[in-house]
Amino acid sequence: MKRSMVLVGVVVASFLGALSFSLSCAPPKPEPVKTGTIPDGEINPAVWGQVYPLEYDRWKMTKDPKPAGMSKYKRGYDTDKVIYDKLSQFPYLALLYHGWGFGIEYNEPRGHWYMVIDQLEIDPSRLGAGGVCLSCKTPYAVPLEKQLGPEYFKMKYIDAHALIPQEFQELGVACIECHDNRTMGLRLYHPAALKSFRFIGQDPEKMTRQELRSAVCGQCHVTYIIPRDQDMKSMDLFFPWQGSKPGDISIENIIRVIKKEPGYYQSEWGTGEWVQKVTGFKVAFIRHPEYEFYTKNSVHYQAGVACADCHMPYIRVGANKISDHDVTSPLKTNMRACQQCHTESAQWLKDRVLAHQDRTVSLMLRSGYATAVAAKLFEKVHAAQKEGKPIDPQLYEQAKDLYLEALYRVIYINAENSVGFHNPSEAGRILGDALAFAGRSEALLRQALAQAGVALPAVIDLELHKYLNNRGKKPLNYKPEQLFTDPYGNQEKLTPTPSLGITAAAAPK
Ligand code: HEC
Ligand code: HEC
Ligand code: HEC
Ligand code: HEC
Repeated sequence: MKRSMVLVGVVVASFLGALSFSLSCAPPKPEPVKTGTIPDGEINPAVWGQVYPLEYDRWKMTKDPKPAGMSKYKRGYDTDKVIYDKLSQFPYLALLYHGWGFGIEYNEPRGHWYMVIDQLEIDPSRLGAGGVCLSCKTPYAVPLEKQLGPEYFKMKYIDAHALIPQEFQELGVACIECHDNRTMGLRLYHPAALKSFRFIGQDPEKMTRQELRSAVCGQCHVTYIIPRDQDMKSMDLFFPWQGSKPGDISIENIIRVIKKEPGYYQSEWGTGEWVQKVTGFKVAFIRHPEYEFYTKNSVHYQAGVACADCHMPYIRVGANKISDHDVTSPLKTNMRACQQCHTESAQWLKDRVLAHQDRTVSLMLRSGYATAVAAKLFEKVHAAQKEGKPIDPQLYEQAKDLYLEALYRVIYINAENSVGFHNPSEAGRILGDALAFAGRSEALLRQALAQAGVALPAVIDLELHKYLNNRGKKPLNYKPEQLFTDPYGNQEKLTPTPSLGITAAAAPK
């Protein structure tokens, strides 16, 4: 890579002579154009917009579809207006998530404008946890939580939503969630985030500006736990970061917490929040862990680069330089964000992103299908047990433990929204482990079934048509044109197309 980076900060650093390269990534702060004051506690972005019209105008643009054909794997809501279905893109997810909301409707994200709207439009099975689902979607979650306490978490989603003033019932992330109204400096707003950053010994009051340029995003772009009471009603919300450190929130630590979290609902099935239909296991879930994944020792994080550097680059509006509040994929703005620091061409930079993503997708398929094969073997083991065939309990327990290790890693990378780019080598490490765990689980299950006298074919039929079609109330069906295949063609050797059962899913109904 060329060393001739155009880091404005580097120039500043060499002037001062003392600052290290890594501290100087954020270009100097643009001076906001200020035309009034904002009342304390003001949620309405239009009021903030009277004082800061340039940022407000860009913020509103998260409503607009982005140019189609720019991104390969994150085609959210582009000018083609197609909604991309993650279960059609990665069909093994339909099998693994079968049994609850994510296995019914699970779409690629789109602009910030739509965060509440998408909840209102999605299959209602996704909102089962109740009012707590609003926590990362509306600025009103915070006043509601203050007024109603834990009641707000367990209310029905629709009832909690109805408490938001009508005019703002579709409002997504607002200025108040990232900014102090008096200084316009960045600060955290959401109680779950304020609490959880303290788990890792980071005082939100003492974060540096550059730390905040990621931490404000880390209020929502993180995985979380909703502890439930005995009736499975939501009681609270926090991030599974106990035992981790800043820059070192590992998948291993997250799995440790989600498996053991004492406040977590316990049942005869074990701990968890949903029942995976194919295996019957009660399991936990991991959502959009961008913050954890990015900050886990990635090259860019170690170089002091923040989320805002790549997703809110500086732009000129007339005579003013502002942070682009039309937050989106850097690919959809032709790599302009990267070029703040890198002198290479847009095409070169895009090729780097795609190289990382292609490799990640290949491993996502490898580990996703391997985990799906193990799930299908558990289905066969359970059927054998029903017929009274003896299954070695030790082999079974070992296989289950390995299977869950694989499953959580597959969920983690599939829920992370950069398709590996935020931390490419960490994606490889996690998916490599997932593949190893799933393969070992399969071997033990085959051994247990062989001992019980159950013969198995070399290639297991995944019957994906059972999980891909007729999903939910709408109902949703498999969209074969959205399928991602292995960029290197290796997956076919392991799970040949006929064994997937997606050809049947694609047949006209
Ligand atoms: C209040 C919670 C919240 C905060 C704070 C937040 N996001 Fe998001 N973000 C979301 C949600 C929810 C979505 C998905 C919206 C949808 O699909 O309806 C999203 C979507 C996105 C997308 C996809 C946009 C697209 O065009 O597809 C990007 C990129 C993104 N966020 C980056 C960031 C960055 C960078 C920050 C910090 C500067 C940030 N977000 C802060 C909740 C948040
Ligand atoms: C070095 C640049 C860089 C940094 C830093 C960075 N991202 Fe990204 N991000 C990307 C790229 C590149 C993609 C892939 C976009 C694509 O494939 O279209 C991406 C994808 C995303 C997406 C999905 C976008 C979409 O269109 O669906 C979200 C959400 C996101 N990042 C959030 C974050 C958050 C939160 C942070 C900080 C914790 C962060 N990013 C840090 C470059 C970056
Ligand atoms: C998801 C978080 C987020 C939201 C929501 C948000 N901002 Fe910002 N804003 C930022 C970040 C990050 C910066 C860069 C701050 C820095 O570098 O110190 C910024 C910078 C600014 C600045 C300083 C000048 C500039 O452009 O860099 C102003 C003014 C501003 N925002 C206004 C607004 C207004 C008005 C709204 C609501 C319409 C809003 N912001 C919503 C994250 C956010
Ligand atoms: C705020 C500055 C900044 C921004 C913005 C930025 N980078 Fe970087 N990038 C760096 C630094 C610093 C390094 C580490 C350089 C080194 O050690 O050689 C780096 C390293 C890289 C590398 C080599 C390491 C690796 O992980 O492969 C690539 C490729 C790269 N950046 C691509 C991108 C792309 C693509 C974007 C936009 C999506 C981007 N960068 C945005 C500063 C930045």
